[in-house]
Order: sequence, then structure tokens, then C-alpha cells
Amino acid sequence: MRLLDADFAKGFIRMCNDGWEQGWHERNGGNLSYRVKPEEVEMVKEDFTPGDWQPTGIKVPGLAREYFLVTGSGKYFRNVIINPEDSMGMIELDDTGERYRIVWGLADGGRPTSELPTHLMNHEVKKMATGGAYRVIYHAHTPNIIALTFVLPLKDEVFTRELWEMATECPVVFPAGVGVVPWMVPGGREIAIETSRLMKEYDVAIWAHHGIFAAGVDFDSTFGLMHTVEKAAEILVKVLSIQKTKLQTIQPDDFRKLAKEFGVTLPEKFLYE
Ligand code: 13P
Ligand code: ZN
Repeated sequence: MRLLDADFAKGFIRMCNDGWEQGWHERNGGNLSYRVKPEEVEMVKEDFTPGDWQPTGIKVPGLAREYFLVTGSGKYFRNVIINPEDSMGMIELDDTGERYRIVWGLADGGRPTSELPTHLMNHEVKKMATGGAYRVIYHAHTPNIIALTFVLPLKDEVFTRELWEMATECPVVFPAGVGVVPWMVPGGREIAIETSRLMKEYDVAIWAHHGIFAAGVDFDSTFGLMHTVEKAAEILVKVLSIQKTKLQTIQPDDFRKLAKEFGVTLPEKFLYE
């Protein structure tokens, strides 16, 4: 079948458009990747025209021979829905996990996202940590989280606790918390190493003064995670805009009760007094 008729491709395109509609993808901001299931690759294989092997700039042996649907570098999320063959592509990794080739899309010399190193290293970490369950890595330029990286200390403990306090569902949606990467040059190996180090522990890595990386099993849960984190950040921005201190909030013991009721584990390092 044609790749664009497959459900996973439709889900990918819908997620790109949903992110655009949220206002998270100015110009070419943000990128998305999906680790394609072997049976999905089989389904659309007849649509492939493999290009030349290229270096990824990193080594991800844990992803050797895997296929990924990715957005293109410099491509606008706004255009994915009207011109998917140009805006996105399918890539295949070689036996060593050091090279890739485009097998579909990214027409007319397009390239995978410049954040491919971070996407692939996050995929490798998550594949290992979840027995292959996680398949989606999503990067968005979420304005409220970005705003908070100018006024909160860039510490996992502070961001996690502040976001958890903003909506009762937050600790249930991201019980492991969120990690924070200090400002770094994007698009390379170093920021990929730093981000994937955090992804061993969290599903969310905040890039100071830049945006968020989120990881999940499928498009719904990964988009939902990004949405929940950014909405909590929006509430915090509103609170801080009204006054500097909270009159009341959810307390450490409240979180412990919540954890018990909802069957989640909340690390004590976030429940400081
Ligand atoms: P790409 O257009 O290369 O995906 O880059 C966008 C971006 O958000 C970089 O961090
Ligand atoms: Zn970015």
C-alpha cells in the first residue's frame, strides 16, 4: 500500500497539525519522529525508493536496521498536512546504527530534522528502558515552558514540583518528573547526549530557552504529555503574573495521598518541604 494510506502515517500527520494549531511550531520550529513497527514497514515497502547512505553523526547500535518516520529539516509543521511528501520522510538505519538512508519522502533533496541525533539517542534509550514499547519522540517550542526557563532555577526538582502543583492530574501523567537541560547549542551530538541521559529517568526533557522533548508509546500519549506539561506551565505563568507567592497549593503530603490512590510512584526528591 501507499505509505500515506497507512494509519501510522495519518497519525503522524495529524499530530504535526495538532502541534501547529497549538501554536508550538512557528516557522520550522519543532520536529517529530516515530519508530515504525516491522509489520508497518512491510505494509508500505512497495512505496520505497532508497537513497544513498549518509552518516548520522552518532552511534545508535540499539536501533540498527530500524525505520523512522521523521519531519524534515527546515520544514514547516504547518505544511505537513498539505505536502507530506516534501515535509516528512521515512529513513532506514544501517547494520551499525551509524548511517541512514531516506527510503520515502523528503522530496527534492530534503534532509531529516537537524535534531536527528537527539531523536535517535532518545529512541535508543527509551527502546531499551521500555522493552520496545516507546515509539514516539516529539520536540516542540512551547511558549509557557520556555518563559519559565527564564525565571525558575534550571533544576529538575524545581520544574517538576512547580508543574505538579499546577494541576492535580500532572503527577499522574508524568510521575517520574521532568528533566532540565541548560542552554546548549541545538542540533548536535552534545545536546543529544545530555538529553538522552535525562530520558533514562524522565519522559520529558526541557531545553532551557528553547522548548521540550517528550517521549511516549504512541502519538496520543506523547502529544497528551506535551499538552499537559505546557498547560501546567501556562497556569504557572498566570499565577506568577498575578502575584509572586501562592496563597495555597497542593502540599507534599497531598501528593503522597494522590500517589497511593492513583497507584503511581512519586520520587521523594520532588516532595521537599
Ligand atoms: P529542524 O527544522 O531541523 O527540525 O529544526 C527545528 C528545531 O526546532 C531545531 O531545534
Ligand atoms: Zn527546536
